[in-house]
Amino acid sequence: MPTPARSRRSAGLLLACALAAAMPAWAGQVEVLHWWTSGGEAKSVAELKRLLAAEGHGWRDFVVAGGGGEGAMSVLRSRVLAGNPPAAAQLKGPAIQEWGRLDVLANLDDVARRQQWDSQLPRVVAEAMKVNGRYVAVPVNVHRINWLWINREALRKVGARAPATWDEFFAVADKMRKAGIVPVAHGGQPWQEFTTFETVALGVGGPDFYRKALVQLDAKALRSETMGQVLETFRRIKGYTDAAAAGREWNAATAMVIRGEAGMQFMGDWAKGEFLAAQKQPNRDFLCVSAPGTARSFIFNIDSFAMFRLKDSAAAQAQQALAATIMSKEFQQVFNLNKGSVPVGTGVDMGKFDLCAQESSAYFVASSMVNALVPSVAHKMALPEKTEAALKDVVAAFWNNDQTSVPEAMDALVKAAQVK
Ligand code: BGC
Repeated sequence: MPTPARSRRSAGLLLACALAAAMPAWAGQVEVLHWWTSGGEAKSVAELKRLLAAEGHGWRDFVVAGGGGEGAMSVLRSRVLAGNPPAAAQLKGPAIQEWGRLDVLANLDDVARRQQWDSQLPRVVAEAMKVNGRYVAVPVNVHRINWLWINREALRKVGARAPATWDEFFAVADKMRKAGIVPVAHGGQPWQEFTTFETVALGVGGPDFYRKALVQLDAKALRSETMGQVLETFRRIKGYTDAAAAGREWNAATAMVIRGEAGMQFMGDWAKGEFLAAQKQPNRDFLCVSAPGTARSFIFNIDSFAMFRLKDSAAAQAQQALAATIMSKEFQQVFNLNKGSVPVGTGVDMGKFDLCAQESSAYFVASSMVNALVPSVAHKMALPEKTEAALKDVVAAFWNNDQTSVPEAMDALVKAAQVK
């Protein structure tokens, strides 16, 4: 007969063995910093974990919630400075170059050669993923920012068609308000304000103006009559939002449109991920239309993961596997079907994608051919972090304070543009 102590010990041993058998033995594990926490985002990220697990590698979530990645960057900075970087972090545009210059990123050239990234990716995208000619990051998708999401039933109720011009937009918004529907669902956070602002800048001023004012930060363009019209239009939109918008998350705003409480939302196509996760269908339940005046142009936002140099060799292997998985056709398809974006590489079958995605994919190519493809400032694709933050502050302050005049806002934009 075993003594009670012995039988407790063997029961403990059995439990440990059972647990070990239940837990997969990962070849390596990657810790991944991201901010994908909404319904559609979480579904997309689950696909990445699943595919990585199929390769025998584990995934540890390092989530810093906050749409647009506002909180994530400062948390990343402190981890890297402490000498303990995650394997991968959701990083974009110029930030990849900034981190690359600090010489903390891993070299992905082997995977890139094996999978022929150079010939699979549009040149602008490939260049953004390289520092000193070496791949250090891997692109996940292409999001289009300049969309207007509309609840189909709300539009039917007011007997209107989807607006193509700003005049039509405000006419529809008036009708919705009269029908007791919040015309524009908005989340009062600086990045969401800037998302609407840059969409209006493109819609009112066109791609050349957008580039001059928001990418080259040309003082004349920032103080121009066109910028005056942009700011007026932007402010006018605020009149159609509800009083409870302050601080609201973007997906809570999308949920208002999904429920029909609100009629429309300006947001990038991750919003579509929310409609789909709520079992809504494009054209039947909701419409995706180009924001007024932007039908032929495209503000792009490319999600990517930069990989940090690691000491642990098993983790470094898992990291290479993660990069290869992200660029696989299977991942590009299944992830983007959930995320609302479109694949970044060539050769993915678009047959399974809905109309919004097919349009986005076609517009991406077409707008690039006519030089109407512009990078998102709100989503970290265009400017150094500090300049972007200063511009966001100005736009948010203008949106939130009706006393600020348009010329005052233009002066403040010029000043913010000088912050480096
Ligand atoms: C990212 C998207 C994300 C959105 C909301 C954007 O900056 O590029 O992937 O879904 O923020 O968090």
